[in-house]
Amino acid sequence: MIEPPPDFLSQIRTAVDYERLAQRRLEPETWRYLQAGSGDDLTLTANRRAFESCPLMPRPLADVKGGHTRLQLFGQPLEHPILLAPVAYQCLFHPDGERASAMAAAAQDGQIAISSLASQPVEDIVQAFLQGGGRQPWFQLYWQAERERTLRLARRAEAAGCGVIVFTVDAPIKLASLQLKGEVRAVNLERSFAPLPLQAGQSQVFAGWMAQAPTWADLAWLREQIRLPLVVKGILHPDDAQRVVELGCDGLVVSNHGGRVLDGVPASLSALPAIRARVAGRLPVLLDSGIRDGRDVYKALRLGADAVMIGRPFVWGLAAAGAYGVAHVIRLLRDELEATMALTGCAVLSQIERMQDNVD
Ligand code: FNR
Repeated sequence: MIEPPPDFLSQIRTAVDYERLAQRRLEPETWRYLQAGSGDDLTLTANRRAFESCPLMPRPLADVKGGHTRLQLFGQPLEHPILLAPVAYQCLFHPDGERASAMAAAAQDGQIAISSLASQPVEDIVQAFLQGGGRQPWFQLYWQAERERTLRLARRAEAAGCGVIVFTVDAPIKLASLQLKGEVRAVNLERSFAPLPLQAGQSQVFAGWMAQAPTWADLAWLREQIRLPLVVKGILHPDDAQRVVELGCDGLVVSNHGGRVLDGVPASLSALPAIRARVAGRLPVLLDSGIRDGRDVYKALRLGADAVMIGRPFVWGLAAAGAYGVAHVIRLLRDELEATMALTGCAVLSQIERMQDNVD
């Protein structure tokens, strides 16, 4: 499924070069769904500004021979810290869909989180991941209105061979909207559920959608049910991070969903240091939202992330060139990360956070 290099390769220097190619290949409506932020794009913009205003400090003459980007996450060895974020409905972007992304991530010795809203059967996506040389992909869980239904979905992913559950908590109300056409749909979900019927005068939000949204009590319950490592995605406040730790979860993702849910919330990168400090090494902290190149990956690690996830950039690669494009995007970011490490005197990831940028 990883096809030969496309002829436009000479035009690609960095992952963002795939953005233009992807736009040319996608229907305008699909393109808007992919790129969209919410509201006035304040958070979307803040994500990028946070990375742009975070400086790098060169540290020449360090001996970085034999350096590498390896790490362990939840017992899994990874060659690099650049994971594919869960992204819904990937068959919208390329007919090979999630299977192509899974195979590419595995072929690049990385990791993927399969969305609850995947457009191909989770079992098939896991198979593609195995074919690419990977072992146990991750599964992203959305709350399914009620406990037992949610657990059935998680158990199906586990039975399919997924090794980590990523529970996304920041999007109980769907704001990014897309009228799905044709064959593409969330094939792993049981029949869809609608908001509860409203009585006169009741709020659509409080009595409708939020009546079926998960609470901390549900997370505590889920923690007891799930044997696999449980990672909570969509945390921005240190108090919430602390609660995730106290509930015995295994990791968290500092994320604002790529600026797609509540507009005006902080950039993930800005929220990271306080969360890192509060968590104090008790569990791994991942970060996503706004990463566009390997220097951004470095900056996230510098401010305390153990690993990162990328969303839109890998989808640009998928839309432009299927599995090849996804693999290429990961490789580009990894090469840029390695070059940044070398030029800042870091031979291994653990040295990045210890780099002191302050100059007396
Ligand atoms: C997403 N994201 C997302 N997150 C999640 O937990 N489950 C999902 O199904 C989806 N679906 C989805 C679709 C699309 C089109 C996008 C762009 C994003 C959010 C995603 O996992 C991640 O948090 C952001 O994409 C990270 O921001 P960047 O890298 O896109 O800036």
